[in-house]
Amino acid sequence: MDYTNIVAETRGRVGLITLNRPKALNALNDQLIDEMWEALDSFEADEGIGAIVITGSEKAFAAGADIGAMASFSHMDAYKGDYITRNWERVKTCRKPVIAAVAGFALGGGCELAMMCDMIIAAENAKFGQPEIKLGILPGSGGTQRLPRAIGKAKAMDMCLTARMMDAAEAERAGLVARVVPTERLLDDALAIATEIASFSLPVVMMIKESVNRAFEGSLNEGLLFERRVFHAAFGLEDQKEGMAAFVEKRKPDFKHR
Ligand code: HXC
Repeated sequence: MDYTNIVAETRGRVGLITLNRPKALNALNDQLIDEMWEALDSFEADEGIGAIVITGSEKAFAAGADIGAMASFSHMDAYKGDYITRNWERVKTCRKPVIAAVAGFALGGGCELAMMCDMIIAAENAKFGQPEIKLGILPGSGGTQRLPRAIGKAKAMDMCLTARMMDAAEAERAGLVARVVPTERLLDDALAIATEIASFSLPVVMMIKESVNRAFEGSLNEGLLFERRVFHAAFGLEDQKEGMAAFVEKRKPDFKHR
């Protein structure tokens, strides 16, 4: 796979997407986003892949949308072109789990990209922020919606209204990130987590992603009902028989549908 703004490669059963515009701190533009979604499409279609990791460099996951590219936009350019925001539900609609491995700056669209992933693993040097207000704009890819859901209104307002950055330790305390790891271990640890997920039954992994995402849509009762239906459906899987038999027989499960 030949891309200009990202590197896409496989590590065992994990698809790894590395944002690769180092001179611009991985600022996001249409070309980068299109390449990222193309790589996601191919990893989703690849039966050998069970989980996907998106990462950047040690200095920056992504410092936001490319400011130079949008500086002279008119309302019509922004609306008609849907600059970098088009198709931003792609991570959510990807049925395989997508992990953001974040080191350095995750700002603006970079923070939003991390938040749309299913889980964020942060390096100790990670910094999250929604600094759009300093540019005379506001978050445009979910910052005002996903941030309050992740960390509550008080901290979300603080970040969006003052542009202050949140470091990894605070982000973990606030519930924005799943785990914080030493910066030099970020990629190895994120790949290990993704590899573990990819070793489980893929249909069950997909059911869990779908069910957890339901918690952010509709009512609690609807979500509980959805979970119960999917839970019952899991008993139709060969992998459920294998997983439970392996437990009873005190051996490692050998899931067929990975
Ligand atoms: C374009 C960017 C950029 C960006 C950094 N660069 N961020 N280029 N768009 N978002 C470029 C710089 O111009 C510079 O290029 C090079 O990357 C290194 O950046 P420096 O500023 O020299 O590095 P440093 O002093 O370490 O500061 C790092 C930083 C700062 C704190 C991350 O770069 C910064 O504040 N960047 C902007 C962050 C931001 O406002 N993001 C939100 C964007 S709006 P040269 O050529 O000079 O070396 C957004 C809206 C999303 O994301 C809407 C929906 C999708």
